[in-house]
Amino acid sequence: MRTKSLLPQRNSGRRRRLGYTAAAAAMVGVLTLTACGSNSSSDDSGGSPSGGGANGTVGVILPETATSARWETFDKPMLQEALRAEGFAADVQNAQGDVQKFSTHADGMIAKGVKVLIIASINSEVGGAVAAKAKRAGIPTIDYDRLNLGGSSDYYVSFDNVKVGELQGQSLADALKAKQGAEVIEIEGAPTDNNATLFYEGQQKVLKPLYDSGALKLVRSQPIDGWDNQKGGTTFEQILTGNQGRVDGVVAANDGLAGAVITVLKKNGLNGKVPVTGQDATADGLKAVLRGDQYMTVFKPIRDEAQAAAKLAVALAKGDTAAADALAQGVSQDPKGKRDVKSILLQPQTIIRADVKKVTETGYVKAADICSGDTASACTELGIG
Ligand code: BGC
Repeated sequence: MRTKSLLPQRNSGRRRRLGYTAAAAAMVGVLTLTACGSNSSSDDSGGSPSGGGANGTVGVILPETATSARWETFDKPMLQEALRAEGFAADVQNAQGDVQKFSTHADGMIAKGVKVLIIASINSEVGGAVAAKAKRAGIPTIDYDRLNLGGSSDYYVSFDNVKVGELQGQSLADALKAKQGAEVIEIEGAPTDNNATLFYEGQQKVLKPLYDSGALKLVRSQPIDGWDNQKGGTTFEQILTGNQGRVDGVVAANDGLAGAVITVLKKNGLNGKVPVTGQDATADGLKAVLRGDQYMTVFKPIRDEAQAAAKLAVALAKGDTAAADALAQGVSQDPKGKRDVKSILLQPQTIIRADVKKVTETGYVKAADICSGDTASACTELGIG
């Protein structure tokens, strides 16, 4: 069972005056236009005449690929595009869940003198260490999507992650409202990811009163180390077996975990009968929603997140703290570091079957990617494509 404390993100509070200065930014110094064009990394999207790069290179380190399709499908290309649009070359690397790789990428980027480092870290320890190292080299950092607790980044760009959890909890409550005492299993994200804590907090805002009143019954809530989808599936199967095969609803913290849960439900002839939540509006998640196997997903417009990070990077690269502060009007609490971090927090959106069209219309996922085989008829019915 979950024992960790719940961490409020949306509390407003007094903003700390943060120490990063224009002088420190100017110390980076060495970066020149040649740095943009000479980087041979296959992930480097800048340096071409049309690709920008006049403002220098921004380094981005993403955490994983296996925990969610979002990182490679959405974040990577959208960050490249947004940074290019702001006149940067983008060096985007993925640490593949390996903290050593994460640090190595950071060392390389710091050594080559990136203007700003954008980090979506595997855990707060490695994220915090990278931010501290960058700061010592005079390179400002932005915590991207995941806040590093006890870290030192002056800015954070993400979604309202408590709200993400609320949307998940509310959808499940809606789906189960006719079933008094419905039995719920919760498959949560990594305990080392502050977002997972916030998703949980949001879900419980809705679900805890229902558990307390007996409207719903919590079978078990289980965080999954490293957001490991496979482990999520085996853990769910064990909990289901331990509950004599009974389950009426599942909180799955993202689409990857939902997919693993649905595989187990299928084996037991329960898919489509048991509502399952998700998150990220990935192609697989949306297909599962169209089939009726997944009740909902949460759409987080990552292009907006990428653009917000790129705009913040411009201000930080110039050492323009006032401009950065004007962009980051929100605040996130870091209870470990006992500080408030200036934030840009965007709004997530619930997507149930009838809403899938909204995602394809924005172009995040193409109709062609989700409308084939056993989802083709649902797409026709819903006017997708
Ligand atoms: C992100 C989610 C993602 C999860 C696993 C979280 O920090 O906010 O969008 O599904 O990590 O990668």
